[in-house]
Amino acid sequence: MGFTSSYHFFIPNQLLASNKLPADFWQVFAKQVRVPASTVAVTIYPTEVSRVGHLVAFTLAAEVTDNAGRKTVLKLPLERRQLLLNADQNEVVDLAQITEDPVILKALKLQLFNDYLHLVQPQSADLEQTRQDFMARPLSSWLAIKHQQLIFYVLAANQPPLALPINFTDLRYFLPADWGVTTPIAATSKQVALTFDDGPNPNTTPQVLRILAQAQIQATFFMVGTNVTTYPQLAKQVADAGHVIGNHTYDHPLLTSLGTTQVAQELALTDVAIYQATGKWPKIVRPPYGSINRVTAAIADRPLIQWTVDSEDWKSQNATTILNVIQQTTDPGAIILLHDIQPATVAALPNIISYLRLQGYQFVSIDDLIAQPLLSQWQYFGAGDQRGY
Ligand code: NI
Repeated sequence: MGFTSSYHFFIPNQLLASNKLPADFWQVFAKQVRVPASTVAVTIYPTEVSRVGHLVAFTLAAEVTDNAGRKTVLKLPLERRQLLLNADQNEVVDLAQITEDPVILKALKLQLFNDYLHLVQPQSADLEQTRQDFMARPLSSWLAIKHQQLIFYVLAANQPPLALPINFTDLRYFLPADWGVTTPIAATSKQVALTFDDGPNPNTTPQVLRILAQAQIQATFFMVGTNVTTYPQLAKQVADAGHVIGNHTYDHPLLTSLGTTQVAQELALTDVAIYQATGKWPKIVRPPYGSINRVTAAIADRPLIQWTVDSEDWKSQNATTILNVIQQTTDPGAIILLHDIQPATVAALPNIISYLRLQGYQFVSIDDLIAQPLLSQWQYFGAGDQRGY
């Protein structure tokens, strides 16, 4: 940027005079401002201040002076004119404050990917390529804030940065606690997460949804691709009810017995089916039978969600037995494995919920149960029990 030295800053002076601005801040900003070639000076000034917790966002305006002395104020989309500061620390917030760790950064990008999909609306056939391209593209080191969203900027050569807004609540485990941005989930050790595998099924899944809605519980459904392809409306109904949908392969094979091409296909076909049905790309995987190894984990390239409590509902197919197993084996932090294709599970579910609530358990999502960023290729068996390859 030849004109970088001609920038004048009026926000807060001592801060901007310091070297705390991310290296690419003005470069990215200049790309968005699109200053004309005749520019001799750019003045940046704040027009508005908004606050969330410790974070302060300055809405910026840019006044451009050309070589004839004419001044123009450049109009930009609001979120692209913001500078995000940590008021308490008196410093610019950048990506490095969220994570310098490439593994965590990858987890963050997995989280951002769904928002990226909403923006780019790729054809389903391009999904895997789109994901790979996205994961390869760098994020700008600077961030912005708007209402209850943090805005990341995705960079690509010769293109203006793409702004990706994401809700604080979706990022709560990535954000430093001392920012005061999010209220932590009520701390209780008695939490469990319910998971339902192998659906969707038109005879049983709607009943599971009704029971969960009545009990106001958010669960996770690990769906089989063939069933999603057959019942896309049902998959959408599950997603629309606020439940998380994970990838449980296309036709439920033992992944570790397959070649790498087949494993990739099992996962990719299911990703496409779930994306087509729900508009969301599954960010977690549960391998059938819990069977996974280093090679298959690398192909899945996502967090792998196992379980603590196996209800063995498919085996007993008996509501009383299912309840007994859960009563005897559930501990705080458990991930409970159920199948929403089993009528006995539907019959047992209201009693399972009442029993666990009576014991003081709270039902939370996998994210809230683990309460830290979920990492690709790591296996999660329950709160405090995770293993990386
Ligand atoms: Ni299964």
